[in-house]
Formats: sequence, C-alpha cells, structure tokens
Amino acid sequence: MNKKILIFGNGQIAHFYFAYYQAKEVDIKITEADVTKQEEVIKAIQDYQPSVVINTAAKTNLEWCGNNRLEAFNVNVLGAGNVAKACDEAKIYFIHFSSGCIFSSVDGKDAKTEESIPNPSSYYGWTKVWSEQMVTFERSAKFKYLILRPRQPVSAQVNHKNMLVKMLTFSKFIDTANSGTVIEDLMEWTDQLIDKQVTGILHVANSGWTTPYNIGLMIKEFILPELEPEKISKAELDTMTPNTRVDTVLAIQKLEASGIQVTPYEERLRQIIKQLGQNINNMDKEVLRQQLEATAAASRQRTVLNNVYESLYK
Ligand SMILES: NC(=O)c1ccc[n+]([C@@H]2O[C@H](COP(=O)([O-])OP(=O)(O)OC[C@H]3O[C@@H](n4cnc5c(N)ncnc54)[C@H](OP(=O)(O)O)[C@@H]3O)[C@@H](O)[C@H]2O)c1
Repeated sequence: MNKKILIFGNGQIAHFYFAYYQAKEVDIKITEADVTKQEEVIKAIQDYQPSVVINTAAKTNLEWCGNNRLEAFNVNVLGAGNVAKACDEAKIYFIHFSSGCIFSSVDGKDAKTEESIPNPSSYYGWTKVWSEQMVTFERSAKFKYLILRPRQPVSAQVNHKNMLVKMLTFSKFIDTANSGTVIEDLMEWTDQLIDKQVTGILHVANSGWTTPYNIGLMIKEFILPELEPEKISKAELDTMTPNTRVDTVLAIQKLEASGIQVTPYEERLRQIIKQLGQNINNMDKEVLRQQLEATAAASRQRTVLNNVYESLYK
C-alpha cells in the first residue's frame, strides 16, 4: 500500500508518528485543522489526499475535562465523529485513538479484553468510550476503521507529557498492576497494522504489567540513584488528586493474533528508562530544567514530589 498519512491533533503521539514516518521517508503531515469544525476537517483531507488518517486530537487532561465537560465532549466525541465521517465519505482508512483508561482493573489477573464492558472513573474516560461509539455511528458498511486503546504511553523522550518524566519528580508510588504502551513500539505496530489493514477495536500495550512502584525502582537504578521510592496506598493518593486514577490491565491477545510481535512491558521499560537516562545526560541542562519544572508543577497537585530531581539539571 502506498502510504500517505494525515494526522489530526498536534500533541505527543502525533509528533512520534511524524518523526517515525519522516525517518522512513513516508509522506506525512500534521494538520492544524480543528476537529470540531467539519468543513476544516473535510478541507484538510481534500487538500492532502491521504491514504490513512490518524486522529490523535483530544482534550487529554483529566482535571480539565472534568471542569470543561461540554468542550471536552465537543472535541473528544463530536470531533472524532467529524473525522470518521469525512474518512468514510472519502473512503480512507481511519485510525482513531481511544484509551485503555476506559477500564478499571482490580488486579493483574483482571485483564480486560476488547469485548469487556467499559467502566471509566472519570469524565475524560467516558468521552473516550463515547468517541468509539461516535466513530462507528451512522457509517457506511464499507467504512474501514481501527480504534486503538493504548495504556499509559511511555517513551525515552524527555518531554513533560511522558509519564516516565513525570515520575522522575515523584517520591511516592502506588504498587498496583498496570499495563503500559511503549510509544516507540506503538509506531512499529501501527505501521504493520496499516499494512495489514486491520479493522475493529484493538488494545495496544506491551505484554504483562508492572506497578508504578517498580518503575520508581527502575528510575532509581538507571537515572536517579538518590531517589528512595516509597509506597503510597491508592486510598491515600485518592485524597490528594482531584480525579481518581484508574488501574488498568489490558489483554493483548488480539494484537498478537493480528501477527504483531510484542515485547514484555518490564523488559522494554528497563531499556527505555536506560535510554531516557542517556538522553537526559546528553541534553541541554536549561531545557531539561524547563521540562522538569513543567512536570513538577503539574505533579504537585496530584502527588508528593521528591527533593532529588533537581540534581538532574544542577
Ligand atoms: N497520553 C496518554 O496518557 C494517553 C493514554 C491513552 C490514550 N491517549 C489518547 O491518545 C491520543 C493522543 O494523545 P497524546 O498523548 O498525543 O495527547 P496530547 O499530547 O494532549 O495531544 C492531543 C492534541 O490534540 C489537540 N487538540 C485539542 N483540541 C483539538 C481540536 N479541536 N482540533 C484539533 N486538535 C485538537 C491538543 O491541542 P491542545 O493541547 O491545544 O488542547 C493536542 O495537541 C488522544 O486521543 C488521547 O486521548 C493518550
């Protein structure tokens, strides 16, 4: 298939796709079109004539979505419907980003499949459930769509949106089972899914699970030896955060059955945390300070900060 990719949304995951496909010399563009405006969406598609559209556009901050419900609904739900409708009418393969956080798992054995009934605990989570319904609502029988559900995307990139960078500033970690999606792997998987023209709903996470506390220990081992990770109970953490965080374990058998080779989460985490440490060492300390202070400002409202992260840029 001759790939020409148009991305809606200009955030973390969009930029990963852009860099990944530019390196492969595949035509790719991130459009600034507003997904809530149907005519802008149609024009962006008509102008670029893509063979694949990926919708990453969303309001992704849980607190913001809880406080701005109509706007979050407009972007996350109606916006997803606008892009899906335009792709259906133009007969373009459409990939939409939903989220694994539409599920809450009790423990590591409570892995949710694509057929499990969603039980989100935040308004944001509900908008992702409704976005999936909106993508398929009143579409033609020939519409080819793929809905991806990642879980806690992590990468080796020093970016304040990266959960691992956020965790560099934490002192206390919950010890509950969670799936995770290594974004570098997600790029490879998506490329293969596009080649295979896989359709339907798909969990996209690495195999197995780990706990934030274990990730804290890996951060200590590879990046911040002064860090002494402490455990915090979910109940105590919930008293600090405006929105309850969910624990989610995703079953990924369907992804593997699609012919995708998936590396275990803990194995990949060790590799990318090591790489993140190298990226931190090699970068400009002032840029690092800005990224860490941006993440610390956000983390301060949700958890207890450590007092050693500043040593990374001082
Ligand atoms: N990151 C995660 O933890 C995670 C986990 C699971 C699933 N997902 C899903 O994966 C997708 C991509 O996530 P991400 O990490 O790349 O999030 P992100 O960095 O927040 O990117 C989302 C982008 O969409 C833009 N956007 C907001 N309203 C828009 C509109 N009306 N039209 C066009 N673009 C608009 C945002 O701009 P502004 O910043 O200006 O609003 C932002 O640039 C989202 O659907 C998200 O729900 C993310």
